[in-house]
Amino acid sequence: MKILVTGKGGREHAILTALSESPSQPQLFAWPGSDAIASLATRVDAPDLPALIAFMKQEGIDLCVAGEEAWLVKDEGLANMCETAGIPCWGPRKESAQLEASKTFAKLFLKRHGIPTADFTVCESKAEALAAIKEYPTVLKFDGLAAGKGVAVCPNAEEAEAFLDDVFTKLLFGAGNLIVETCLTGPEISIFVSVCDDQYHILMPARDYKRIRDNDQGPNTGGMGAVASRDLADAALMQRIEEEIVKPTVQGLIKDGLRYRGFLYCGLMLTPQGPMVIEYNCRFGDPEAEAVLPMVRGDFEQYCFAAAQGKLAPELISFAEGWSICVILASAGYPASSRSGDAICGLEQVSDARVFHCGTRRNPAGVYETNGGRVLAVVAQGTTRTAARDQAYANADKITFDGQQRRTDIAKMHFE
Ligand code: AMP
Ligand code: GLY
Repeated sequence: MKILVTGKGGREHAILTALSESPSQPQLFAWPGSDAIASLATRVDAPDLPALIAFMKQEGIDLCVAGEEAWLVKDEGLANMCETAGIPCWGPRKESAQLEASKTFAKLFLKRHGIPTADFTVCESKAEALAAIKEYPTVLKFDGLAAGKGVAVCPNAEEAEAFLDDVFTKLLFGAGNLIVETCLTGPEISIFVSVCDDQYHILMPARDYKRIRDNDQGPNTGGMGAVASRDLADAALMQRIEEEIVKPTVQGLIKDGLRYRGFLYCGLMLTPQGPMVIEYNCRFGDPEAEAVLPMVRGDFEQYCFAAAQGKLAPELISFAEGWSICVILASAGYPASSRSGDAICGLEQVSDARVFHCGTRRNPAGVYETNGGRVLAVVAQGTTRTAARDQAYANADKITFDGQQRRTDIAKMHFE
């Protein structure tokens, strides 16, 4: 079996690793992949989606697994183009991926199907947004793909004004609307669901840590770490999430004629009123994938292959007991910027942990160096949260590069 994964980051490194550890050992390809991914998969050099599809047809790729979100909504959409070419794709069609690409689309979907979410107003200008803000803190969201950085939780008018200037005056994220949302409170949880038409399978839950500094201080990032365990949510909570969020979401997709085959990420806040949807993503989370996927047992390859063809078979995989913890090592300047070219030391000293490469490259001497904001994901498992945490941090300590940033409270904050 030949499988191609789209993307180049830590999530894709983790997906490819899980596929490579499947019993049938598929032949793997990655587009565009990375220097680190090249040890697992053949990198495909295609300038655009049409060229990628042509490559997949010519190579006889049996399955395309969508990693990054951007390709799902580019051109006619990765999944739609695969479908036309007769290649099974584990990732949703363009029209369905609007759930992530357009926050307005997602909010209207949630409202239409009675799924709990924060109240909101869609605004087209700074003046409209200022008029829609009823109280502080308020939540402002740029309506489009912004790599996890288009959201600001603003404690006061000054910060709201500054973010509105970023969006409407400086056009930092490009053109687009803005959503003003009621600020919710409570712990967050990431629920991953494999959705295959009207069938669904809820995977192991995770929690990510989005702010750059300890104790949730500083700006939002793509994610500075994650913790995954079945123990993150008890049976009663999972039942409630299934009934109030997952089922109506899957039924809503069917009612709206939005065919969906792929991972769906429900970002929830566990508010005093119950679980509410903060956002949908039409892919696995990053860095949650790096924490969850090492816990998968069974045949992940056959699971994805069958589901992409309309047969969801939850019995093909299971999830390990215990805890999995991912600590992100980020580069200097992140998230406002990122510094590339800092040599990474100590990778070879890592033991009893996995390292997924989020943003690295090999320099001409063959040494890995930083190449992006999030650089590495150090991941360890343990029977207890503290054992997994100690193991992850002990290994993270071995890896050094200039300007490294990381949080020290992954899997600690919200638990102790
Ligand atoms: P999003 O990109 O929509 O997931 O938002 C990024 C982060 O902003 C979330 O993970 C939350 O931490 C925070 N956030 C988003 N919406 C809200 C909300 N309505 N109330 C409080 N925090 C929010
Ligand atoms: N961990 C957040 C995301 O994948 O968007």
